Amino acid sequence: MSERPTLIPGCRRILHGGDYNPDQWLGTPEILDEDFRLMELAGCNAFSVGIFAWTSYEREEGRYDFGWLDRLLDRMARAGHRVMLATPSGAKPAWLSQKYPEVRRVDRHGRREPHAGRHNHCWSSPIYREKVAEIDTRLAERYHAHPALGLWHVSNEYSGECYCDLCLASFHRWLEARYGSIEALNEAWWTSFWSHTFTDFEQIDPRDRSIDALGLDHRRFNTDQVLDFLRWEVAAIRRHSRDVPCTTNLMGTFAPIDYSRLVSAVDLVADDQYPGYSPDDPMLERTVRRVSFKSDLHRCFKPERPWLLLESCPDAPQWKHPVRLKRPGLHQAEMLQALGHGAEGTCYFQWRKGRGGGEKLHGAVVDHVGHEHTRVFRDVAALGACLNKLEPIIGSEARARVALVFDWEARWAFEASEGVKSTRQEYEEVCIDHYSAFARQAVSVDVIDSGRDLSGYALVVLPQLFLLRPGVAARIARFVEQGGVAVATYYTGYVDPSNRCFTGGFPGDGLMDVFGIWNEETDWLTDGVARRVAVTEDGLRRGLEPSYEAQGVCAVVHPRGARPLAVYAEDFFRGTPALTEHRLGRGRAFYQATALGGEFLRAFYAQLVDELSVPRALGGELPPGVAVQRRARGEREFLFLQNFSGAAQRLTLPGAYADLLSGDALGQALELPAWGSTVIASRGGS
Ligand code: GLA
Ligand code: GLA
Repeated sequence: MSERPTLIPGCRRILHGGDYNPDQWLGTPEILDEDFRLMELAGCNAFSVGIFAWTSYEREEGRYDFGWLDRLLDRMARAGHRVMLATPSGAKPAWLSQKYPEVRRVDRHGRREPHAGRHNHCWSSPIYREKVAEIDTRLAERYHAHPALGLWHVSNEYSGECYCDLCLASFHRWLEARYGSIEALNEAWWTSFWSHTFTDFEQIDPRDRSIDALGLDHRRFNTDQVLDFLRWEVAAIRRHSRDVPCTTNLMGTFAPIDYSRLVSAVDLVADDQYPGYSPDDPMLERTVRRVSFKSDLHRCFKPERPWLLLESCPDAPQWKHPVRLKRPGLHQAEMLQALGHGAEGTCYFQWRKGRGGGEKLHGAVVDHVGHEHTRVFRDVAALGACLNKLEPIIGSEARARVALVFDWEARWAFEASEGVKSTRQEYEEVCIDHYSAFARQAVSVDVIDSGRDLSGYALVVLPQLFLLRPGVAARIARFVEQGGVAVATYYTGYVDPSNRCFTGGFPGDGLMDVFGIWNEETDWLTDGVARRVAVTEDGLRRGLEPSYEAQGVCAVVHPRGARPLAVYAEDFFRGTPALTEHRLGRGRAFYQATALGGEFLRAFYAQLVDELSVPRALGGELPPGVAVQRRARGEREFLFLQNFSGAAQRLTLPGAYADLLSGDALGQALELPAWGSTVIASRGGS
């Protein structure tokens, strides 16, 4: 069995620590001394340093001073801590903005932004690139062999668009490269609509969203700009530091950037998560599944290695309203949820609360009071102790036989298309609806984009896969023919990569034959209105209830080889199928013509999970708010259990386990208190 890579090569510890800004405290060295004492007490071992420290290294153009960082890294090394050294490009010095206005972004209205905030530099500015490469290269040259250096933390939460002349010209060149000729672009974009036919690339204005393919391409372009910038920074680091892994912190399912492509430029995946679990959140169950969904997405970006929760909050972020404190126990539960989904590090924003600035009241390990005798500090220290006991999980992996396709391009096309975008069938939400049905059954799900290989999965779910990239439909067909089970919903297969509708019937590009139906039209029900759906004999045999309520949208479909498992019982489309099954080759393809709710999804997928012998981490259905993840290394299995339900829960265990935190052997049942969590390991095995 080959060893899975660890986050930091050669470091077999679960990373625990966070964003550390000693550059804000250089005038009070006693605070830094105190930090090192507290780091020990908190059981922290990894710190992101220098994220916004550019002016502390280069106070004036070309005059560098890394003295404080030298001393800090030496001290980190002596303490045995690892540093995730940041490149400081996320916030630019004022002197840079002043001297080179081109580094400042231009907004959609053509206005050059003032020097303010952060995360707002131009992606194209040659000066900004040059200055960033210079500082990144110097950092890499100076610290590449430093024993404290563990990872490169490239920039911070890349985001945003720039509309300056340089970025505009770059967009035009990008379009030229993509289409080759203006005629090909006109054809792809359907520009005869509203007389938009272009005769020159220079005429194209990215703010014109009436051609929805233009908007789609501008999002692709923006992803490419960010990707190019990230590659630029990685290349600057690589001039001197070849072996230390690079990462950049992402933001969950951040809509504007196609993360499935961005991650190609980094060695490992890092995500920032602030779920803000609150006892009186009416959507608590949803929040639990949403967090799991995002974690599985990030796990699957690079399934061959662990990912890193690079930012989370040990307490409450100041920007959540209301600012709810973490309930006792919750901190551990939240961190174990990330680890259960394949993370091997849980870090915080931030180590110590600053005295000023917009984040002075953001939760941190060390409060303004300055000592360790706070509830939050104790919770963090308790987690530090718990992570030491969890070291056996290092190198284990989550395995899934179910894949759910979450695709940025499909989402963009859906959200750009009038007529579907406001149906409340929001792309991400619908994906989470389906994902949640599996999570409630403790079934592990890979969340992947549509470009990925499907072979190897037993079941593939395609919620609203509105846009089909070339080859995707053929891959789905092959998957089914060879024995796989595919499930698609309404709004699958409407458009090609230029957001042009497929002709010849939906779902297009050959999927009508795969699902054995034709989706003729879709009725969008008024909020609060439902249509009754009656389950057929075939459907009842699949364990479904006799009737359900359709909400949201009702697609009117005609079978072309598929059998109805449920039909609409009302309205003019009464008797037409609401749910179908089609046999194709050795597999089956199901089509959900409408949304029948969480209970339906759970019953429907439970049956498929049983039929396909997809493993569940625990038997039966989990109570709302309870989450379970499974990781395994060889024969050894680890179950991560969290109770976010706000009430005690009793879980029945499927075998012989020991509690990894207490060391106790467990019986058939395990009681988890409200906000309780633990990790249990199968007994036997190594
Ligand atoms: C108006 C316009 C048409 C078309 C329709 C759509 O009537 O004149 O060009 O946009 O709205 O409803
Ligand atoms: C983001 C940023 C951090 C900090 C936190 C606050 O994740 O990356 O610098 O601003 O938000 O929650």
